[in-house]
Amino acid sequence: MPASVWPAIDGIAYGGDYNPEQWPREVWREDVRLMREAGVNLVSVGIFSWALIETSAGVFDFDWLDEIIGLLHENGIAVDLGTPTASPPAWFFAEHPDARAVNRDGVVMGFGSRGMASHSAPAYREAAIRIASTLAERYADHPAVVMWHVHNEYGVPVGEDYSPHAQRAWRTWLQEKYGSLDALNAAWGTAFWGQHYGVWEHVGVPAAAPSVVNPAQRLDFARFTDAQLRACFVAERDAIRRFSSLPVTTNFMANQHHGCDLWAWAREVDIVSDDHYLWAADVEGEIGLAIAADLSRSVGGGKPWILMEHSTSAVNWQPRNIAKRPGEMARNSLSHLGRGADGILFFQWRAGRSGAEKFHSAMLPHAGTESRVFREVVDLGAKLNRLAEVRGSRVHADVAILWDFESFWAQDLEWRPSEDVSHDERIRAFYERLWRDNITVDFALPGHDLSGYKLVIAPAQYLLRQADADNLNRYVEAGGTLVVSFFSGVVDENDAVHPGGFAAPLEPALGIRVEEHLPLRAGVTTTIDVGGASHTADIWHEHLVVSEAEVRATYVDGPGAGMPAVTRKRHGAGTGWYVSTRPDAAGLAAIMAEVYADAGVAPLDAPAGLEIVRRTGDADDYVIAINHAATDAELALEGVDLVTGRAARGTLEVSAGDVAVIRTPRTAHGSGR
Ligand code: GLA
Repeated sequence: MPASVWPAIDGIAYGGDYNPEQWPREVWREDVRLMREAGVNLVSVGIFSWALIETSAGVFDFDWLDEIIGLLHENGIAVDLGTPTASPPAWFFAEHPDARAVNRDGVVMGFGSRGMASHSAPAYREAAIRIASTLAERYADHPAVVMWHVHNEYGVPVGEDYSPHAQRAWRTWLQEKYGSLDALNAAWGTAFWGQHYGVWEHVGVPAAAPSVVNPAQRLDFARFTDAQLRACFVAERDAIRRFSSLPVTTNFMANQHHGCDLWAWAREVDIVSDDHYLWAADVEGEIGLAIAADLSRSVGGGKPWILMEHSTSAVNWQPRNIAKRPGEMARNSLSHLGRGADGILFFQWRAGRSGAEKFHSAMLPHAGTESRVFREVVDLGAKLNRLAEVRGSRVHADVAILWDFESFWAQDLEWRPSEDVSHDERIRAFYERLWRDNITVDFALPGHDLSGYKLVIAPAQYLLRQADADNLNRYVEAGGTLVVSFFSGVVDENDAVHPGGFAAPLEPALGIRVEEHLPLRAGVTTTIDVGGASHTADIWHEHLVVSEAEVRATYVDGPGAGMPAVTRKRHGAGTGWYVSTRPDAAGLAAIMAEVYADAGVAPLDAPAGLEIVRRTGDADDYVIAINHAATDAELALEGVDLVTGRAARGTLEVSAGDVAVIRTPRTAHGSGR
């Protein structure tokens, strides 16, 4: 059955994971009463309930589930019904001990946690399809159920699996991919260290070995793992679709787990949904949040998405779990909404007394309703209720940053030139500059149609297929501005260095060749000269050979002393920039100021700490303003604040730590995605 596009809920979806099976029935009545008080209109039910729904193979107990879904329905709360396949029951592993995942060191995963199944085990797949279809058949037409939540966070805690079932599936996958051993030997470069294969049965999973395992083999294993997980999702989704036309999703972990290629996954779900948790160690966690939100929107092609989980306050799984301060939960929520989320949900509704997550915050905390968190939850529900008309509006971006999971998989393998080089760090650095300038960003793949963007940034495109490099060269030739940061364009899809050397495929657009990488020792800082001003740079220099580009910054000292550090080439109607080191924030700002001028993009004139995003509706625009600063802020704007009902007549005032959503006349946009 074809899936409908958006779940039948009025306005912005609001709620969280709900685990009633952990509570006696009298608590359920209190739950639904308090959910109504908080404005909750959607809860995800049953995500970890397999053992209580299918009590032994093929034996089902739906009484409790019928009852709670009925109760939710009576109270006007819609259900996002989970398939509980992220945590198979004890009976399943007792019957199928071989269906347990095995880690890279050969350790077989034990019971008593979650996620220990091998996604390649036929018994697991069969059981997962059985429970998904049984649930779909039973609840497809239940008026409370509005969407399906398949599994939970594919890839975590188990992604790569080295079990015998995975081994068999891996060989089949390789045979389909390569057709012949000759092709496999060539792609993996097995002439190196004598790894040549003469018989398929000798090709193994890249388990722990005495030294570094063939990087092309490991890269393929990352692809295989992603494909196996995705096949599990697709099998459950299709089982559901036999009975139901409701939208099907599974919760991603954009920007927190790179094991799943979300570009491919987003094509399989009806609605993108994402889980996001702040990294407590990051004092500006709102920037990482914005990356995750922009990525969630981008992988879904710009369509509205659902924030399936975030936290009202602290999580419980980081080294130091920092509680959110007053107003922070609303700021986080509105930032997601500003970046395209039409649903704001949490893990979880009621804090659990037992189990591994009892120190995790919830909408209803252990402290009960007389608590700051619950009061803020009620207040957020009321705010979101006033934002119903924002639903369905879109976010426009003139700038794209390249985000390529496959390249991350390759770059993260062993024996790279410097352990200091991180794709996450480089993406964050460039993104951060744009975030501070309030320039909205989409993420994209290097092979996408980029023609709608004025500026494309490649902060970490280590793996770059020749065809994708050609696409980037054409983008510049046709008038785009491209910025490429170091350690990009280095290898092809088999982790083999490009013929012609590092970055050779981008020479048409950039006009440089990278003769040698010159990584720096730990803690060493050097100086670069950017247009006459000195800035520091660290971790990496390069020996650049300029074939046809202007030098915009030079190494003053360090191993690259006297050589070009940053270059700019006019190519066709566009411009290609290359940044061969890691400048400090001021140095990057100086470089980006020139890049902006080339691209025709401009920072928004707003006080520091005021995050501004714009959503465009059919009739109006909505400006979402989030004040992260400790001081009140003003912005020139005309419209009505939907949060307070107050008019902004020429000036919008946003108090320290507060949020505003202004309905304002619609602006025309260029041809961005
Ligand atoms: C993930 C999981 C949830 C819960 C939260 C805790 O997002 O999906 O089940 O464990 O983390 O932060």
